Amino acid sequence: MVAMPELLFSGVKPTSTPHIGNYIGALKQWAEIQHRYQCLFCIVDLHAITVPQDPKEMRERTLEIAAIYLAIGLDPKRCTLFVQSEVHEHAELGWILGTLVKMSELERMTQYKDKAKVKGENVGAGLFNYPSLMAADILLYDTTVVPVGEDQMQHVELTRMLARRFNSTFGETFVEPQSLVQKVGARIMSLQEPTKKMSKSDESASGTIMLTDSPDVIRKKISRAVTDSGTDITYDAIERPAISNLLTIFHHATGKPIKEIEAEYAGKGYADFKKGLAESVVEMLSPIQKKLDEFKSDPGELARILDAGRDAAQEMAAKKMKVVMERVGLGRK
Ligand code: TYM
Repeated sequence: MVAMPELLFSGVKPTSTPHIGNYIGALKQWAEIQHRYQCLFCIVDLHAITVPQDPKEMRERTLEIAAIYLAIGLDPKRCTLFVQSEVHEHAELGWILGTLVKMSELERMTQYKDKAKVKGENVGAGLFNYPSLMAADILLYDTTVVPVGEDQMQHVELTRMLARRFNSTFGETFVEPQSLVQKVGARIMSLQEPTKKMSKSDESASGTIMLTDSPDVIRKKISRAVTDSGTDITYDAIERPAISNLLTIFHHATGKPIKEIEAEYAGKGYADFKKGLAESVVEMLSPIQKKLDEFKSDPGELARILDAGRDAAQEMAAKKMKVVMERVGLGRK
């Protein structure tokens, strides 16, 4: 039997500038593992409109995210970088999978439940059906690996279930993907509320460090980060969630094991620790920010990369959709 090539797919919504949670939980590992797989990285604008967006700003952010993909080190010669809405098969397969998924399965999705709690009666049907579209993104390309933060694992599980359901209903068509999450850092928490994940929609901007924050803003946000009672700088996610979150960020910013950081700051106060952390985060982000400015200043090159990515993704997606249409009995021969 010929071994299936490993294919990696992931994406970010252009709802705001990505934050260090997105970077540590997802983008950073993409850059690290891109050489091991055939990769597709998408800017998932159809997902973004499940909450209202300003059209002009969303287009700007779509390009900003493309520039961020390049700035974090994704190599367009190896990876296909593209915009979801430019490959119409995503929406088409999303619709088909939406006819297979059950309301009760979508109702169990914690991300939907969290958002529905805030929006109540006004929660959009797009938000409810969001996992069908995400499943389509993944299944269209016979994806085997989906590197994401912890909050997306449930959606990848549902994707696996939908692949099995489609295959058993219509015949073997889709590959069941696996999610890939960071061992440490799959869920970076808000600096202001360390029991809540760092989020683009966080009301408290000071709880979230954006990839584009200036050194001074980063220093200010970290100096104001809440801490746990006591003075120990030790990792204990349950008893000391605030310091554990800061240690996790420190670990990713420096590459040092958490134990080593604990030893370095043993007997020192939170102020010293936060200063060290702030400088490490500034150092982690400054080369990315420098490259981001370069890529943003060359829109022609960005457009060329996204055009090529769209064409490559489209070719793969069209082949798969042809099979899907046939299996489901859609259209004429
Ligand atoms: P999005 O744009 O919300 O987030 C992008 C990636 O960042 C991860 N992430 C986090 N990781 C650690 N700590 C956090 N606080 C944190 N917040 C976000 C997310 O898990 C994600 O990996 N539904 C997806 C986008 C998507 C997708 C896909 C991903 C659409 N189709 C297909 C993979 C495959 C999302 O909302 O990402």
